[in-house]
Amino acid sequence: MTPSAGGEGPSSGGVDPDVLVSSALGQLATITTSAALEELHTELLGKRSALARAHQGLVALDPGQRPEAGRRLNEARRLIESHLADKRAELEQGERAARLEADRLDLTEVVVPRGRGRLHVVQRTRDELEDVFVGMGFVVAEGPEAETDWYNFEALHMPPAHPARGMWDTLYLDLGEPETVMLRTHTSPVQVHLMETQGPPIYAVMPGKCYRRDTPDARHIPTFHQIEGLVVDRGISFADLAGTIETFTTAYFGPDIHSRLRPSYFPFTEPSAEYEVTCTICKGTGCRTCSQTGWIELGGCGMVDPAVFAAVGIDAEEWTGFAFGFGIDRCAQMRHEIPDMRVFFDNDVRVLRQI
Ligand code: FA5
Repeated sequence: MTPSAGGEGPSSGGVDPDVLVSSALGQLATITTSAALEELHTELLGKRSALARAHQGLVALDPGQRPEAGRRLNEARRLIESHLADKRAELEQGERAARLEADRLDLTEVVVPRGRGRLHVVQRTRDELEDVFVGMGFVVAEGPEAETDWYNFEALHMPPAHPARGMWDTLYLDLGEPETVMLRTHTSPVQVHLMETQGPPIYAVMPGKCYRRDTPDARHIPTFHQIEGLVVDRGISFADLAGTIETFTTAYFGPDIHSRLRPSYFPFTEPSAEYEVTCTICKGTGCRTCSQTGWIELGGCGMVDPAVFAAVGIDAEEWTGFAFGFGIDRCAQMRHEIPDMRVFFDNDVRVLRQI
């Protein structure tokens, strides 16, 4: 930048216009905001500026020198004004860009929606089973998961050392005498609680969690769910049990699923049966899930043994009843055609989202 087009010439009142311009340039270089620039503008060109004082000093010059000195001062003013204007434009542009950046709305931003939770398939199955039975006139009851030996075994006609206890090994809790309190192995103890606390007639289903020392495989897991059923009334027969199970099967699985009752043994029912449905994985032809039988056992059932009525003080001459206990996880497995039950509890959400 050339400070003065006029080159060397008379100074004005002792002030060299070239020095004024170069000093102004030095100050301008340190300015970073518009506000500071306005202050500098007043300082350089205002009434009390060195330039203004130099103009006033022109009168003291020899009249012959005044025009040239005046011209040089005007040139210096023009240059300073021009540099101020350039700096102003530069600062405004930067400030506008900063303002725009701060106000910017990023319309391309992708907001990932929060995943919506849903009930686990076993919980949904439990709800659906409850709905079916409530629709058939049953009420829903619940009992504790930690049980005493009396409720889990003895009242159900399994005295200590009864061989049937071997089918239902479980975790015992360190409460009082050894092996007297345990995690229940089935929901049948809730039958005993109900019969003890409310007399017949009873039409109830009792869903809940059960625990067994079972090795996990395609049809077994150590913590699973059952839904117990109990009917106690006058004149209840095996035909009522069979009819109830038939109605349930059609209501829950639809008309295409076949079921059967196969004679079996439970200490607390007599006679007893296993309730089975056609394996939905292989449609009855035999596969790994059903151990090549074509059938899947969903639960046990039978007529309440008079010994159980005796344990809870119900007169078996007056009242009869039936009971059943279905695996909820098994029902879910068959309904949704899942070859291996363990996927329910692997917690892979990609699987659970599909069911
Ligand atoms: C019982 O538990 C009897 N309390 C059922 C009963 C109730 C019989 C009332 C008579 C009267 P069982 O051990 O067979 O029976 O189990 C019943 C059902 O629970 C099985 O058919 C199966 O569907 C389910 N189940 C049993 N063990 C497991 C397991 N480890 N994993 C998943 N489901 C299981």
